[in-house]
Amino acid sequence: MRLVHTKSIDPGTKLAKAVYNEKGKILIQKNIELTRRMLNRLIQYNITYVYIKDAFTDDIEVNPPVSEEVRIEAYQMIKSTFSDFNKESFHSNSFLFDNSSRMNNIVQEILRQIQNQDEVVSILSDVFVNDNYVFNHSLNVTIYSLALGTELGLNRSKLEELGLGAMLHDVGKMFIPQNILQKQSRLTEEEFEIIKGHTESGFEFLRNTPNVPLLAAHCAFQHHERIDGSGYPRGLKDKEIHPHARLLGIADVFDAVTSDRVYRDAMLPHEGLEILYAGAGTLFDKELVEAFRRTIAVYPNGLTVELSDGRTGVVARQNNNLCERPVIRVLEEHGVEIPPYELDLSKQLDVVVSSCRTALGKEKIK
Ligand SMILES: [Fe+2]
Repeated sequence: MRLVHTKSIDPGTKLAKAVYNEKGKILIQKNIELTRRMLNRLIQYNITYVYIKDAFTDDIEVNPPVSEEVRIEAYQMIKSTFSDFNKESFHSNSFLFDNSSRMNNIVQEILRQIQNQDEVVSILSDVFVNDNYVFNHSLNVTIYSLALGTELGLNRSKLEELGLGAMLHDVGKMFIPQNILQKQSRLTEEEFEIIKGHTESGFEFLRNTPNVPLLAAHCAFQHHERIDGSGYPRGLKDKEIHPHARLLGIADVFDAVTSDRVYRDAMLPHEGLEILYAGAGTLFDKELVEAFRRTIAVYPNGLTVELSDGRTGVVARQNNNLCERPVIRVLEEHGVEIPPYELDLSKQLDVVVSSCRTALGKEKIK
């Protein structure tokens, strides 16, 4: 299968992976030929990329980091938790109080599945249409944080604390009026101040909910703090920020820029990483950014890449110790189609990925 930009697909192309809604219901079945109407629906849902069937890449596999069942269960859990609150007070989350052990079980299951995966994490493999960005984002941040925490060698109880903190880090967003939260144009200074308040309200809310560890409340409080002191709400610096919150900040930003949004296309993983590297040492811990790079598929399976020596191909498999050097199924040399063969970039160190192509055909969509 091949990863392509939705807007570049012609009718008649076959989808290689089904598209689901948040309840796990299939919206568009795999293997059927896409009609113009289906394509318009995908675009309407703001889905930037999908996997399509393609003769040369039919055997290339794409594995989601967690199973569909767990993703749906976790999503519903986050949705129920975030929906059970009282706008007037920060004192009542009876759902979370009653279900904290269920939430812990979900964190443990996500962790188990991530640790049993033999490939690095690629969330692009899940095409889910969601009714609320915050819910899906909370789940993705949990997956990224647990993968990064595992890479850093955190022990089991630290990973479980981190997973819970990640799941609940944006719970304060529920106190923000929807018209501000979903605004597509530039926020006014006043509106931005209201958005910033989700850190404090999330903290208050979680620390007043019995059964939730105080550390999870601090994850909500501190995940927008940056090591140079430029973050919010308190402008904490370096080690003043809890290690979990420093880690969460990285997962949070990466997921935000690589997710589909109403007002812009999702960035590809290597572009999201560039954003993190731009802030490495100032906004984010350099070592954490380095470690994060080792946990994700920088060039995910199925992505069409152009190589520095004029060859073009599709990523076939990951090399987990060298995430930016996967195995490429070469399909073209200097623009001429050739019988496909595989090139392992971990063994061909003089060749690098120079660009990615997500539009079908020769044209690039940017
Ligand atoms: Fe946030």
